[in-house]
Amino acid sequence: MHLQNLLQQRFRDSLSSLTDRADVYAEMIRPTADPKHGDYQCNCAMPLSKEIGKNPRDVAAEIIASLAIEDICETPEIAGPGFINLKLKDEFICRQIERFLGDERCGVEAVDQGKSIVIDFSSPNVAKPMHVGHIRSTVIGDALARCLRFLGYQVETDNHLGDWGTQFGIIIYGYKHFGDPQVVDANPVQELAKLYRIVNQLIEYRKAKRSIEALEHSVAEAEGGLAQAKHASDEAEESKQKAARKAVASAERRLQSAAEALRSSVEKVEAVESDSLWADRAAMHPDIDQAVLEETAKLHRGDAENLGLWEKFLPHCKDEINRVYDRLDVEFDHTLGESFYHDRLGGVVDKLRDAGLAKDSDGAVCVFLENFDAPMIVQKQDGAYLYATTDLATLQYRLEQFEPSEILYVVDTRQSEHFDKLFAVADQFGLENVKLVHVNFGTVLGEDGKPMKTRSGSLIGLESLLDGAVDRAKQVVCDPERLASFDPPMDQAEQEMIAEVVGIGAIKFSDLSHHRTSDYRFNLEKMVALEGNTSAYVQYSFARTQKILENAQKAEGDVSEMVADSGIAFSHPAERHLALMLMKFEESLVALHKDYAPNQLVDYLLETARAYSKFNENCHVLRAETPQIQATRLALVCLSGRVLQLGLRLLGIGVVPRM
Ligand code: ARG
Repeated sequence: MHLQNLLQQRFRDSLSSLTDRADVYAEMIRPTADPKHGDYQCNCAMPLSKEIGKNPRDVAAEIIASLAIEDICETPEIAGPGFINLKLKDEFICRQIERFLGDERCGVEAVDQGKSIVIDFSSPNVAKPMHVGHIRSTVIGDALARCLRFLGYQVETDNHLGDWGTQFGIIIYGYKHFGDPQVVDANPVQELAKLYRIVNQLIEYRKAKRSIEALEHSVAEAEGGLAQAKHASDEAEESKQKAARKAVASAERRLQSAAEALRSSVEKVEAVESDSLWADRAAMHPDIDQAVLEETAKLHRGDAENLGLWEKFLPHCKDEINRVYDRLDVEFDHTLGESFYHDRLGGVVDKLRDAGLAKDSDGAVCVFLENFDAPMIVQKQDGAYLYATTDLATLQYRLEQFEPSEILYVVDTRQSEHFDKLFAVADQFGLENVKLVHVNFGTVLGEDGKPMKTRSGSLIGLESLLDGAVDRAKQVVCDPERLASFDPPMDQAEQEMIAEVVGIGAIKFSDLSHHRTSDYRFNLEKMVALEGNTSAYVQYSFARTQKILENAQKAEGDVSEMVADSGIAFSHPAERHLALMLMKFEESLVALHKDYAPNQLVDYLLETARAYSKFNENCHVLRAETPQIQATRLALVCLSGRVLQLGLRLLGIGVVPRM
């Protein structure tokens, strides 16, 4: 049931006798912020009155006169300059609640459309441990997949693993120069991660060392810029003061970020040079970055040794990420990594040439695009293919294989330019039947507002993040004082199970609660709390519904029978408010799809949990005055439990029966 759409449909019918743009005006129905004005409000009479040259209140009256809505709403009221206020009939809400009770979809209609939606998400570069940056794509992509599937779409999830890139050159080099085959065989996952870190640190050291001179130069330049801006500000006349101060502030920021970049490079260099083991390693591998590229290129050329190592390492890399996916309860329909497309890349370049899109330019093959400064390079001078080439091959494959109506790429905002170009090339390639969307997202920041890093400057490992949240959940939820009243007592195994569900849920929920495009600060304390905008609050609300059903000794079937006997009717505003929230479940999911924004569902669940809590405070279930009141309240408890549980499940979050 999509209330807003239903009301809009009725308005459209009425408006069509007044205007050709009934659609546009019918869209102007919104839920009211203040219940004084009813449940929904339509403000179309004002703009429409301008179009047809009449008084807005008269127009509102005309709309109402031909509006067939009495089965849903009380007689609409006209307020102020011509707002139309709509209040749903209690009777109507009660019938819907009765209906939802017997519907396992909780009233959410399934769309009926044959085409599929492909969701490309998580897609880590394997061969290095997953880090904090992988959370967002994994959690957002999984939530979208679950929600769209529930809405009735045929969803194909695909983990586009980076399993063919430089990171393999890194571990191959590491294995050849720092690896001990026996040690690696005994403990491959950890050893490969260790080799990755060694080589990566040496590469970073080289890069940092090379960058210092240029960075010193840019700091000096920024200092000069600041001095100049300050001078200009001192001299500026009254009217130019504000602009001059702004210029000083921005010069300060420029200096700060230049100084920071320099400091970071200096730290990386010092970390290596101050340690004799590392200093020796660095001295022995002066051209490590070039050498790593060469190992990667050899792999791509089909060199037997490197291909053999790649085949040996890849399963271990997959084990490593699969452990994390198991813990996060994330599954994929397909895991077609970059390596899967390797043989198709030459064909893609040929096809682009044949279509007249790709041209040779300085030895490389490029697609020149309007509105972009730089072309998309699809093959380098040395014959190597690029990330973009693989994405074009992937796109072609997906179109053939899945015939999708939409392809969603759940990838960091920092790759926007790549996707803009990819979609532009796709457009010229004649792929107009599919909607391509870069479902972009912002960065996870530390407490200091900067991208979250460990003390040594590397990105925080995903697993340690999960462990931290689970520990915290245990402290909060399994606090002995809290647990003292539990009957039967909670044993260790149950406590651990709860901590895992609450801790992992907290990370997912807080990530999803921010609009995906904004950055957010990671704050474990806020995330794992029983009060506030947290998953634990929603999970706790669910547990309360179960407790009430248990105390009433009622299963869902019993409640349905009671409702069939006595019917549903409201005796307190908190009941009505909760019922109305339960009816808006579908609206939240449709809004989520529209903007690919899981925070729509998060907000909905929080609001519903709050409505449930109000209801709980005000409406006693066991001591209800009449059988009808009790049936009504039990029905609301039942449905609240189901909607909260289902809603969390669609976000990839579990519940526990008590907590
Ligand atoms: N492996 C890439 C990275 O870690 C993300 C891949 C996203 N998907 C894609 N089709 N490009 O940056």
